[in-house]
Amino acid sequence: MRNGSNPIGIFDSGLGGLTVLREIEKILPQENIVYFGDTARLPYGSKSKNAIIKFSTQNVLFLLKKKVKMVVVACNTSSSLALDYLKSVFRVPVLGVIDAGVQKAVMVSGSKKIAVIGTKSTIGSGSYQRRINALDRDIKVYAKACPLFVPLAEEGLTKGEIVSNTVRMYLKSIRGKVDTLILGCTHYPILKNAIAAYLKGVYMVDSAKEVAFKTKVILEENSLINKTYAVPRKEFYVTDEPKEFMKMARIFLKRQVNKPRVVNV
Ligand code: DGL
Repeated sequence: MRNGSNPIGIFDSGLGGLTVLREIEKILPQENIVYFGDTARLPYGSKSKNAIIKFSTQNVLFLLKKKVKMVVVACNTSSSLALDYLKSVFRVPVLGVIDAGVQKAVMVSGSKKIAVIGTKSTIGSGSYQRRINALDRDIKVYAKACPLFVPLAEEGLTKGEIVSNTVRMYLKSIRGKVDTLILGCTHYPILKNAIAAYLKGVYMVDSAKEVAFKTKVILEENSLINKTYAVPRKEFYVTDEPKEFMKMARIFLKRQVNKPRVVNV
């Protein structure tokens, strides 16, 4: 039986999911957290549905060994392609990032024109498009895969000519057409300023923020909020020694973390 002092489990294909951890820490500072990044098999964004379901299942099994009380699927690609499967096979609450971002976008879009950007697999799965239209069929959805945003964010490249050219290349077909944009990938919040500067006045939905609120709601509903006052434990696991882990942690989490442990799943 899990209780409040058990950790929240978060997994991602790599370190981008630290953007989700960061938002969860902000609104649930007392929670113990186990973060798992599947750095050996990154990127998920160009892989098949079968591969993503297999990897995601293994990731949840690893987190369950750490006795997590719920699982947050920080990866948009896993949330798009594996969430239904994970929910059907595991008893622990499993939360993905898609619905949280979609609900916010549908709520704020006055023009009923929403853009969503993500990896090739996320956009190809149609998950965002379907969920938006399930809430409101009159909304026009512009979906665009932006694969080069991931390496830019990982390089810590957030401004300058390469970034603005890449932003323009991907988003010129969207500019002027929408009032809301969903950042449908763990890495994209890092490029938020560059994207906002190009899509002037467009409301940016950061799924990481939205999912943090939902995490809190799920813990409250299941009476799983951590009520102990001990200093919260943060554990980090990866499947391959990520190059420049400390640099990446600073980019995505904006603080230093202990070195992660390398594990096999
Ligand atoms: N974490 C992935 C996502 O949010 C991006 C990186 C990858 O392709 O694995 O879709």
